[in-house]
This record gives sequence, C-alpha cells and structure tokens, in this order.
Amino acid sequence: MASGFSLWRCMPLIAMFCSLNILILVSCEPKVPCFFIFGDSLMDNGNNNDLDTQAKVNYPPYGVDFTDGPTGRFTNGMNQADFLSQFLGFDNFRPPFARASGSEMVQGVNYASGGSGIRGESGSNLGEVISLDQQLGNHQTTISKIVSLQGNNASYTGEYLKKCIYAVGSGSNDYINNYFMPDFFPETSQYTPEQYADLLIQQYASQIKVLYNSGARKIALFGLGPIGCTPEEIRTFPRNLSGCVDNLNNAVAQFNNRMKPLVDGLNANLSDAHVTYVNISNFSPQIGLLSFPCCETSTTFGKGQCVPNQKPCLVRTLRAFYDGFHPTETGHLLFAGRAYTAITPFDDYPIDIRHLAEL
Ligand SMILES: *[C@@H]1O[C@H](CO)[C@@H](O)[C@H](O)[C@H]1NC(C)=O
Ligand SMILES: *[C@@H]1O[C@H](CO)[C@@H](O)[C@H](O)[C@H]1NC(C)=O
Ligand SMILES: *[C@@H]1O[C@H](CO)[C@@H](O)[C@H](O)[C@H]1NC(C)=O
Ligand SMILES: *[C@@H]1O[C@H](CO)[C@@H](O)[C@H](O)[C@H]1NC(C)=O
Repeated sequence: MASGFSLWRCMPLIAMFCSLNILILVSCEPKVPCFFIFGDSLMDNGNNNDLDTQAKVNYPPYGVDFTDGPTGRFTNGMNQADFLSQFLGFDNFRPPFARASGSEMVQGVNYASGGSGIRGESGSNLGEVISLDQQLGNHQTTISKIVSLQGNNASYTGEYLKKCIYAVGSGSNDYINNYFMPDFFPETSQYTPEQYADLLIQQYASQIKVLYNSGARKIALFGLGPIGCTPEEIRTFPRNLSGCVDNLNNAVAQFNNRMKPLVDGLNANLSDAHVTYVNISNFSPQIGLLSFPCCETSTTFGKGQCVPNQKPCLVRTLRAFYDGFHPTETGHLLFAGRAYTAITPFDDYPIDIRHLAEL
C-alpha cells in the first residue's frame, strides 16, 4: 500500500516562511479522517470551471507555478486550502466537488466557488456562482454518498464526520460583489455598514448551524482581509492617505469585529462544537502602497482577473498579489501557515487549526 503514496506525503514537508523563520513539519498520516472546504475564490480549486460565469480562471497565466497548470485556482500556485490539506497530512489536495469521485469524497471535498458569498445574490453580477447555501446543499449530497460507501450505517458516518475539519471562508464577495457595487445591488443604500455586518453575521450563524447539524464539530471560520488594499479596489475607488480605500476596510472591520462574539455564541449554544476564528486581519499587512498585481489585469470582462495568456511578473515569490484581488502562492502560504499554527495569540481564536485537529 505504501508504494501508492505520492512522494511528498511521506517526505516530511518543510514549509518555510521567508520573513518569519518558522518551520512547520508535516507528518505522514492525515491528522483527521476528512477535510471539507467551503468559501470563495480564496479557497476555490476549480468548482466554477464549467459554470457560465466571469468568475473562473482555468486559463494561463493562472497556475503558472502549479504542477497541473491552470486548474481554476485563483493564483499562480497552491492556495490556502491546498496548503491546509498538506499541513493536515493528506496525500492529495481535496478535490473540487464538481469533479470529485465518491471514494475521494470520503476524505473530504472542496466546495468553494469564486465570486460567491454568504448572501445568495452576492456575485450574481458575474454570472453563475455557487453560494454558501448551495455549497451546504452539495455537502448533503456528499454525505449521502459517504453513508452508502461506509455501509449505510448513518450513525457510524455521523461519528466519522464529527472528527473532520471544516474550513469556511466567505464574506469578501458580500462586500466586493455586492455592498460596494451600488450599480447592481441596492444594499449600500439600504443598510449602514454596521447594519449590513449584523445581517451577514446573522445569516452566517444560521449557515454554520446547518453545517453543525450535518455533523460538523471542528469548524474554522476565516475572517476577511483588507479588501480596500487590493489593487483592483484601489484602481476603482479613490484611495486615502493610508494608501488603501478606507471606507471598504472600515466596513470589512465591522464584519471581522463580530467574529469573536459569533464564535463564542456558537461554542456556547452548540454542544460539543469547537468553532475557531482565523483572524486574517492580524496577519494581512495593509500594504496599499505596495499593492500591484503580478499579471496584467482586465478592466472589463472578469474585471481584476488576469488577462488570458499574458506573461506574469518574474519574481512571484516576493509579491503579495497575483491579480487585482488574489494573493500569490506566497500570500496563501502565509495565511494557511498562521491559520494552522498561530504565532501570536491574536492569529486564531480560541485555538489554531493544528490544535483543532488534535481535539
Ligand atoms: C453502526 O455503527 C455503530 C458504530 O458507530 C455500531 O455500534 C453499530 O453496531 C453499527 N450498526 C450496524 C447495523 O452495523
Ligand atoms: C477617504 O477618501 C474618501 C473619498 O475621497 C473620503 O470620503 C473619506 O472621508 C476618506 N476617509 C478618510 C478616513 O480619510
Ligand atoms: C446563543 O444563544 C443565545 C441565547 O439563546 C442567543 O442570544 C444567541 O444569539 C445565540 N448565539 C448564536 C451564535 O447562536
Ligand atoms: C484580530 O486581529 C486584530 C488586528 O491585529 C486585533 O485587533 C483583534 O483583537 C484580533 N481579534 C481577535 C479575536 O483576536
């Protein structure tokens, strides 16, 4: 059986953070039996490829540093879901739901969809996207398949699913492709940023409860990055002295500020639940003045995404952004690294994913 393992699984993998001198050792056996991923383009690994949407990137120069080339990942190489799969010890990336086989599903699936959000209509300006509610529906399909593959013993599968890790990263598009797109959506004029954040958190809370009711117990919720510092938002809106678009970052901060109370509430109300908050804002430098895309980005169709078939910048490991919105592989490694192993007490609340896995 060992001969079937891919090489990198059983070679202890050393992920090195250039700036931080941190070593993470990944062992051979998966630390949890399965890993499920929900969210948007920061997690998506190809679920949108066959959809009628602007939010798909299965063309060069995406994937220029990825073994399989362009796969629908919104970056040059691996994304944070891929790194987390590695850190958790899986011998493969979790496959996109759109193409996962039943036997692969037993170890977990990636449901994430670029452009999608907590609210069903977020991202609909781009065409088809798979909203968080629809991703939760797809998870039901997966569970039915796992139940039948595991011998139709629902209580056995229920116990199995409790041991797995569930990563959820949604909300960016409720700002980028909704609240801050007043030509398409009425939300901006209907709600103050405070009211809008309340609304999102309320809906997010019920979505996480749906996940819990599907058997999830170990859940990591990813906060939002400083969207107002992305190259595309800086190009679209007037920037402030900070170098970023302050009112976007302030609106996003309203959402992030509600995550700790959300996590506390979920852990108090759902028995046996271990929900944790990955505090992206604690490790996203607000680098407005260094905010350049690595590729030539589109100003029309697929706005902010790389123009197809152009050469990207050369020194990609030193760049923060790959296109107008998305981090390079280096950025993804930083996010996943500190989500998995906290290096300050503010990185993950109350615990990091490594400790979540060990529970
Ligand atoms: C189903 O799995 C449980 C363990 O979770 C076991 O105790 C039970 O005997 C199984 N039932 C059947 C019918 O195999
Ligand atoms: C940022 O710039 C916008 C638009 O120019 C302005 O309305 C806003 O007051 C500025 N914010 C700060 C904090 O300076
Ligand atoms: C937890 O329960 C309390 C009391 O019923 C309620 O006020 C609160 O909104 C709940 N929080 C969550 C996140 O479910
Ligand atoms: C998240 O990080 C921010 C920025 O460093 C910090 O102000 C905040 O307290 C952190 N939140 C938690 C729950 O640790």
